[in-house]
Amino acid sequence: MTRQPALLFVFALAVAGFAQVGASPLAAGETPDSGQESYEQLCASCHGTEGKGDGPAGIVALPMPRDFSVGQFKFDADSDGHTGSDDDLFLVIRDGASRYGGSPLMAAWGYLGDERVRELVVYVRSLGQND
Ligand code: HEC
Repeated sequence: MTRQPALLFVFALAVAGFAQVGASPLAAGETPDSGQESYEQLCASCHGTEGKGDGPAGIVALPMPRDFSVGQFKFDADSDGHTGSDDDLFLVIRDGASRYGGSPLMAAWGYLGDERVRELVVYVRSLGQND
């Protein structure tokens, strides 16, 4: 037995717990109005409301979700030799990190549509401007 299943279970509980306290989760088929709304509803459980990677579910994830407030990113998804460009963030959010060799916990959000994913890139960047 590995410890992985137990960790995943704890993780699932954390996600479920957050879903219950989160403000007005979206009904099926509804789309959020802005990058901030999408982020708070879909991403903050792991990445934290200020993007510090300290959401209730994120603290049990390995590797830890990125701390967006530092503005350092890992994946060069478009293979242009630089990590963390708008295109890189767009691709990781759309396709999920595992597509680029990262954690499957960072899921693919492409179903939101390109426009929402672009808004999320802008919002994630805005979190990097905090002190
Ligand atoms: C279930 C937890 C979880 C959720 C929910 C989640 N993420 Fe992540 N995210 C992660 C983890 C874990 C990583 C680190 C992946 C790695 O390093 O392999 C990550 C990494 C990232 C990165 C860093 C990419 C890089 O190059 O460093 C971005 C950007 C990102 N997430 C955006 C988002 C956005 C936007 C959402 C909401 C639509 C979201 N995440 C939802 C867990 C999550």
